[in-house]
Amino acid sequence: MCGIVGYVGRAEAAPILLEGLRRLEYRGYDSAGVATLEEGCVSVRKEVGRIDDLKKAIGSHPIGGTTGISHTRWATHGKVTRENAHPHFDRSGKLALVHNGVIENYASLRAQLEEEGHIFQSQTDTEVLAHLVGRAFDRSSERTQGALVAAVRDALRQVTGTYGIGVVHAEFPGLIIGARRGSPLVLGIGKGEHFLASDVSAIVSHTRDVVYLNDYEIAAITEDGFTLSTVEGLGADYNVTTVDMTDEDVGKGDYTHFMLKEIHEQVRSVTDAMRGRLSHEEATAKLGGLNMTNAELRSVERIVLTGCGTALHAAMVGEYLIEHLAQVPTECEFASEFRYRNLPMTKDTLVFVMSQSGETADTLAALRESKRKGHRTLGICNNVASTIARESDGGVYMHAGPEIGVAATKSFTSQVTVLALIALLLGRIRNLSSAAGSRIISEMETLPDLIAKVLAKEEEIAAVARRYAQAKVMLFMGRQLNYPVALEGALKLKEISYIAASGYPSAELKHGVIALVNAETPSVFIAPDDAVFHKNLSNIEEVKARGGPVIAIGTEGKGGELSLICDDVILIPQAPEILTPILTSIVLQIFAYHIAVELGCDVDKPRNLAKSVTVE
Ligand code: M6R
Repeated sequence: MCGIVGYVGRAEAAPILLEGLRRLEYRGYDSAGVATLEEGCVSVRKEVGRIDDLKKAIGSHPIGGTTGISHTRWATHGKVTRENAHPHFDRSGKLALVHNGVIENYASLRAQLEEEGHIFQSQTDTEVLAHLVGRAFDRSSERTQGALVAAVRDALRQVTGTYGIGVVHAEFPGLIIGARRGSPLVLGIGKGEHFLASDVSAIVSHTRDVVYLNDYEIAAITEDGFTLSTVEGLGADYNVTTVDMTDEDVGKGDYTHFMLKEIHEQVRSVTDAMRGRLSHEEATAKLGGLNMTNAELRSVERIVLTGCGTALHAAMVGEYLIEHLAQVPTECEFASEFRYRNLPMTKDTLVFVMSQSGETADTLAALRESKRKGHRTLGICNNVASTIARESDGGVYMHAGPEIGVAATKSFTSQVTVLALIALLLGRIRNLSSAAGSRIISEMETLPDLIAKVLAKEEEIAAVARRYAQAKVMLFMGRQLNYPVALEGALKLKEISYIAASGYPSAELKHGVIALVNAETPSVFIAPDDAVFHKNLSNIEEVKARGGPVIAIGTEGKGGELSLICDDVILIPQAPEILTPILTSIVLQIFAYHIAVELGCDVDKPRNLAKSVTVE
């Protein structure tokens, strides 16, 4: 989604802003722009397309100045055009503003401003906010920094919706004002320079000391310092956090794509998700962050897991794991539907919201609704500084490290690992024996080695992927724990290669899906050595009987039966049933990746998609 970078200091702002925007490219965008303050004016450059296009525009018409704001736009209100790209100006042309989020009452505000004679250059909700701030400042009797902050405050009081903003004004060449409600904003502290960003990865090469703004806070930032206040006009306290992220973490290293790097990081990320959380002594998992005693956990009668996209698929694996190991009734719900449903939730229902970024608007809304209804609501997040992490009553961090590729990979396997730990803990305080707990712990400890063995098969999987890259439609089938993996495999393929793909429980085939089977439509069956292996085999036979090509993901030692009927077989190492979703999903990540590369797709920046979806 949209990204913001601001700089105030002694260096040339434009190159720093461009570099920051480049680091936010992964979030997804369709246009970009920069505004700097030079010689009493605001200079602006905007382009539709990539940051490289904006860089070229600045190369041919350079802009100077040591203060500036910049933005990547993911269109919501108004088409993808240069006019709609940010920054936007107020009526005087002296004030420029960048904005993430949605101003919900922009239409009525715009009508009112137009009645007063304001003329708009774009179709965006953002330009309305720029005009509101400019109008408030121009009405003020003072031309001071304090009066500009007051004008921002005044404008923000009139809007409903969400915002993360950066504002500059030609009369204050060393000042940026930032504010947030619902869209993340972080302030970076340097020496003789300060930064503003929607995501810490944009500024981590300059500073690791940051202040995360809270909702309704306004920051006035100069090269020497900053002040914080609230939209209500009160002072605000802050904590300086040193972020645990290096420049290397947010780079591609020797990999061609972030997605491939992150696929290969899964030995480490899954290890980190388990680190210090397995107790051999008590044959259970230790998850202090849940902030719940065993007695409280034992009184949980029902669990609801909610999230979006890949996070929801991980939740669906979690549903099987929790019901299997702990026998606690568990239900998964799209976060986008959660708020609008009237889910029957007893007072002992525990809600988990799952989100890699911790900023997904629908998931955040589900968290708030669940809390509003009085349920204890826990988060499973990767981004420790995120809004969801902060607003949850407790939870478990994934510790997967930054995930930059738009296609979620390591976050899925970390989420499933965390859910397995939760299932183990809930099981052990109920009926699961200590012997069973110990066995599960020993099995989980083999995961990093098993993942390494799957990753070592990359070339073999890539060769299969290339053979099917020209397919127009692909079906993914799995049963039980591997049904959500079928959904996830289909999602991975369609989002990065644009091949139409859908996932189903294997047995659903004969209820309609089988009509799609023909010689041009490959079916991917996830059929590891588990309790339903032979059921899967029968479903594969049904596809083969109708001339459909089949790629099977099986288990070493059981490959023979699959090879007899399937066109291609990829084998994972022998593994306990509960761990198979992690291994089979990695095969499908590699499969989708190599198809997308074969088709020449922009793997890390798929069309129309954003890494973190911060609008509803
Ligand atoms: O940051 P989140 O985990 O909340 O993101 C949820 C989805 O937007 C995300 O998983 C999305 O489906 C991925 N692009 C899929 O690869």
